[in-house]
Amino acid sequence: MKLKKKIVLIGMMGSGKSTIGVLLSKKMNIKFIDVDSKIEIIEKQKISQIFKLKGEKYFRAIEVKTILSLLDSREKEFVLSLGGGSFLDEKVRKNVKNNSISFWLNWKPSTIIKRIKKSSKRPLIQGLDDKEIEKMMLDRNKYYAKSNFKIDCENHKKNEIVDKIILILRKNEIKS
Ligand code: S3P
Repeated sequence: MKLKKKIVLIGMMGSGKSTIGVLLSKKMNIKFIDVDSKIEIIEKQKISQIFKLKGEKYFRAIEVKTILSLLDSREKEFVLSLGGGSFLDEKVRKNVKNNSISFWLNWKPSTIIKRIKKSSKRPLIQGLDDKEIEKMMLDRNKYYAKSNFKIDCENHKKNEIVDKIILILRKNEIKS
């Protein structure tokens, strides 16, 4: 398959962007880049430490800068998984729209809550109860819905989710 655009995965924390991204890139034989990991390499610090020591505002600025430079790069053949909060930024959304084909990995709130609640890796949800996480997710879904394609993941195995994405990419290639 000849890709004309970068592939971007979007969705809430715990939606499987990195796991699906790795599987998708392997199946397509292209590179995978995880924005959070990239930031951790640039900053030489874990995301949770960046939040703790430098604050969310600092993290968001680095996050936007990292995403925009990846999306602006000439290289086309890669799958990029975004951090769950980055798509709330208008510049990121515009750039994703112009330079990539984007997929929102959508799950029921209860599935996401179950997955992320016990994680200490996710500073943003520390101290939130289920209702508050659900509210955050529903608020964010309005932004995630601006991606090119919504992939309903509930009750699907990882490989089925990957195949759904590949099917859309194939159809898109035919159209383009
Ligand atoms: C965040 C999601 C995290 C990470 C940071 C903030 C968010 O990435 O970027 O903790 O605002 O949703 P994942 O979506 O990969 O967990």
